[in-house]
Order: sequence, then structure tokens, then C-alpha cells
Amino acid sequence: MGSFKPGDPAAVEVLFDQIAPSYDLLNDLLSLGLHRVWKRQAVAWLQPRPGQKLLDLCCGTGDLALVLAPKVRPGGAVLGIDAAGAPLQVAAGRSARQSWLNIQWQQGDALATGLPAASFDGAVMAYGLRNLADPGQGLGELRRLLKPGARAAVLDFNRPDPGRQGAELTASFQRFYLRRLVVPAAERFGARENYAYLEASLERFPTGAAQQHLAEAAGFSRSQHRLLAGGQMGLLELVA
Ligand SMILES: C[S@@+](CC[C@H](N)C(=O)[O-])C[C@H]1O[C@@H](n2cnc3c(N)ncnc32)[C@H](O)[C@@H]1O
Repeated sequence: MGSFKPGDPAAVEVLFDQIAPSYDLLNDLLSLGLHRVWKRQAVAWLQPRPGQKLLDLCCGTGDLALVLAPKVRPGGAVLGIDAAGAPLQVAAGRSARQSWLNIQWQQGDALATGLPAASFDGAVMAYGLRNLADPGQGLGELRRLLKPGARAAVLDFNRPDPGRQGAELTASFQRFYLRRLVVPAAERFGARENYAYLEASLERFPTGAAQQHLAEAAGFSRSQHRLLAGGQMGLLELVA
């Protein structure tokens, strides 16, 4: 198991700074490009429209912000926030090649962005919630930033719920995938420990049902956790 401690903000920042250069390539390799399909499902729930102001929390190298930005034209804007500087630099390089898009990138903490309340028409967070020291607090901040009735989509790995049928099979596949495929592949990029962290972060991640409760406690009026990829991924569909 890697030495990166899940939920430790400083360690998480170092981790994502280190893997930023190979992050996009590894993501494509390890998911066979499927992370784009899952991200599209998150966007489909959001239903972005021209003129909207949208937020991509834990934006990393900016995949989702870059998908959303053309959809809010004309008149809209997208803000991408991440705690780590290196992925944001990659994101800024990507958006600079599409200068007609209205995207801003900002380094900040998803748990306390310091942005005004009710300032966004919608938000996404992909593979971010699992990394936060306190996922409930993260959902609270997400809710605070949204206008009433605005939608949010939170995409991440699914932590199989022991009470659900087939959970053990899903969990075994996840272990196999992470230990036998992800970690050895990451090793070739010199990022073994960074990716060994994935399994540890999943172990402390709330199940879908628990995420629904956390979202309701955070003030969302609607919260539905949907399984994707045969239960490997989960999409938390939220209405503020
Ligand atoms: C697995 S990456 C996902 C990036 C991107 N959303 C994607 O799907 O490709 C997780 C990102 O969350 C960021 N992150 C972790 N903790 C954070 C926090 N407290 N505030 C803001 N960003 C955070 C990391 O720096 C990292 O870039």
C-alpha cells in the first residue's frame, strides 16, 4: 500500500502535483477511454444550457470544464477549482488552445472555496469527493455555492455496499483491477504509490446510500446515487 494518506489535504496535493504530467494518458489507458463516457453521463444529468455559470470542483486537468464550456456559450462561463497547482497548469494549457471558451481556473480548497453563496447554475465534481478529508463538508460547500433548484453531478468510483446483491463480486473485481492492472501500469510511469492510494481512498469512501444521506444532510432537496459500469462507478445526481 502506498504511503499517501487518504484524506490528508497536503499529501493529496503532493500526489496530484506529481502525477499531473501523465494523469490524462493513464486515465485513458486504465479506463480504456471509458472515463469520458462516465463523464458524459455526469454532463447529461447537469443539462448545461447557454448563459449558465457552472462550476467544476476538483477539476484536475480540466476534462469536465472543457466539455461544459462550449455548452454554456454564448454568455456563460465555467470556473474550475483544484487544490493542486500542477494539474491546473495542464488545464490552463488546454483551454489556451481554445481561446473562445470562457473558462477560469483557480487554485482553492473544495471544502472552503471562499466564493459567494448561490453563485452557480450547476456544478460537477469528478473523482474528487473520495479525496476530500470530509466528504460531507464537501457536499455542504457544493450545496452552498448552488442556486436553489440547480443541479450537481458527483462522479466517482463506487464503493460496493455490503448489503447489496453482487457486492462481493463487484468488490473482488475492483481489487483485481486496482492491484493487478492499475498499480502495475502506474509503476511503469513511476507513479506506483500514487495509484496504490486509490484502493485506500476507496476503503474510507461512503457507499452510494451513505452519500445520498450526506447530500440530504448537506441541504440538497434531491439526491440519487446511480451505478455506472456494472457497479464499478457511481454517479450522485443532486438538486439543490
Ligand atoms: C482524481 S483527480 C480528478 C480530476 C478531474 N476532476 C477528472 O475527473 O479528471 C482529483 C483532483 O481533486 C483534487 N483535490 C483533492 N482534494 C481537493 C480539495 N480539498 N480541494 C480542491 N481540489 C482537491 C486533486 O488535486 C485532483 O486534481
